[in-house]
Amino acid sequence: MKTYFKLNNNINIPSIGFGTWQTPDGETAINVIKTALNDGYRHIDAAAIYKNEKGVGAGIKESGIERKDLFVTSKLWNSERGYETTLKAFENTLKDLQLDYLDLYLIHWPATAHQFDNWQQLNNDTWRAMEELYQNGKIKAIGVSNFLEHHLKPLMAQATIKPTVNQIEYHPGFMQNDCVKFCTDNNIQIEGWSPLGRGEVLDNDMLKAIAQNYNKSVAQICIRWALQNNVLPLPKSVTPHRIKENFDIFDFEISDSDMTRINQMDPIGSSGLDPDTVDF
Ligand code: A2P
Repeated sequence: MKTYFKLNNNINIPSIGFGTWQTPDGETAINVIKTALNDGYRHIDAAAIYKNEKGVGAGIKESGIERKDLFVTSKLWNSERGYETTLKAFENTLKDLQLDYLDLYLIHWPATAHQFDNWQQLNNDTWRAMEELYQNGKIKAIGVSNFLEHHLKPLMAQATIKPTVNQIEYHPGFMQNDCVKFCTDNNIQIEGWSPLGRGEVLDNDMLKAIAQNYNKSVAQICIRWALQNNVLPLPKSVTPHRIKENFDIFDFEISDSDMTRINQMDPIGSSGLDPDTVDF
């Protein structure tokens, strides 16, 4: 199993990212980042709206790991869409993280017709700022998050630089096949948020039985399954033994028949956050 994916601009991205959503800022964020980096993670998935980028940045700094050996992602929050506001939000994120460049910057959610008449223009204006930051060397790769095909198509029609990544909800029982196919056909790497789903996924009897056969936990099956489907998982935990467990997935392989069983599971565990109707 490869430990990196290659993005469409030839940048290598470590194949598991450490999620930071719902991680409290301050000591907790500092400690979990140091723990994750000590366990071998080299890819941190942050976002301005998680309100913990100061702690995440301090954790990175205290780890002592060289910047060039890390891959750090952040995301532009919805209230900052637009050209000027994106440039400013990016600078704030960089400052909070105590970094002088980002490896990847994503538009967190698309502007959509549900909230804006000019939603396509708004996404294009935001993207123009991201392209500029990329061209100025402040970001190594740019992408989107929670974009479906009908959001990506108009953006790509106007874009000079194609998105490298689309980060979407992805876990057993919620695979978003149409979106994944469109992105795969266009060489856009899929990253999966909430790769463990919610309680329903971790409690699923079929997944429990499969996990037992491999002597692994259901969480490890979810993470390995995403990777074997070429999706980059972003597991989040604040619990040291789980942080370690979620990275310990390189020493086994899920068989083709078990992959098929998981791929064909009935829908479960979706967050219900539909990009076209969410109100944030
Ligand atoms: P905690 O952070 O308290 O350890 P997801 O990444 O799918 O959004 O899942 C995150 C949730 O799953 C968090 O509540 C996290 O709890 C929990 N979690 C993370 N890793 C594991 C694991 N290996 N086993 C069980 N629960 C986990």
